[in-house]
Amino acid sequence: MFRRLAGQSRLIARSFPAACRGRGVTRTARLGLAEVLFDLRHGTDTSVEPPGRPTAHEGTNPLLFAEILRHAEFTPAGRALVDFGAGKGRALMLAAEHGFAAATGVESSPELCATARANIAKYGRRRPGALSVTCADAASFEVPAEVSVGYFFNPFGAATMSAVVDRILESLGRAPREFHVVYLNPRLDGLFLGAGFIEAHRRPDALLLRRPR
Ligand SMILES: C[S@@+](CC[C@H](N)C(=O)[O-])C[C@H]1O[C@@H](n2cnc3c(N)ncnc32)[C@H](O)[C@@H]1O
Repeated sequence: MFRRLAGQSRLIARSFPAACRGRGVTRTARLGLAEVLFDLRHGTDTSVEPPGRPTAHEGTNPLLFAEILRHAEFTPAGRALVDFGAGKGRALMLAAEHGFAAATGVESSPELCATARANIAKYGRRRPGALSVTCADAASFEVPAEVSVGYFFNPFGAATMSAVVDRILESLGRAPREFHVVYLNPRLDGLFLGAGFIEAHRRPDALLLRRPR
């Protein structure tokens, strides 16, 4: 645990100067602290995969998650969320912390799925909630009818994202409902806008979208 946290802290420290240039010292420090504190508080492993690992993973920063949800047009209570590209499951646990009734992660790396499930088991001991991980390619994941929020933290390229948008539209066709998207690092926002999603809130590093019923 402490070796992992030391590694995580080293990675944060190494990227600190560059991050400070973009975000300023205070904000960079707050974001870095939030990263490290999450695992310390919960006994989980949601740290960044070190360079050279076959899986690229970076968990959602807890501060960013809270900030963007403040602008959401929906309340999490009673809602089910899918995190497309769930990594080590940090966003799922943040969803539980922010009051979502259920959160499912779809993750293609078996190694990260195993870590995410172990994290959820540890986290769930203190905060029981309906958290789960499906080990699958998001492009072929059938979105359950009860899901009304899709979460994306820059998980994949245009081909997979386009297929995921199609899976969401198919689900909305089977069970018509309003659907919300929370999208961090929204590089492929055009795919959602082209599929009838409406921008609800935008800042440079995050986007909220809604598709009316
Ligand atoms: C930036 S991480 C996001 C982690 C998590 N969503 C969070 O915010 O804490 C992106 C994840 O997407 C996964 N991924 C990439 N392509 C995928 C695919 N086709 N299907 C499912 N997961 C995929 C990667 O393995 C990686 O773990």
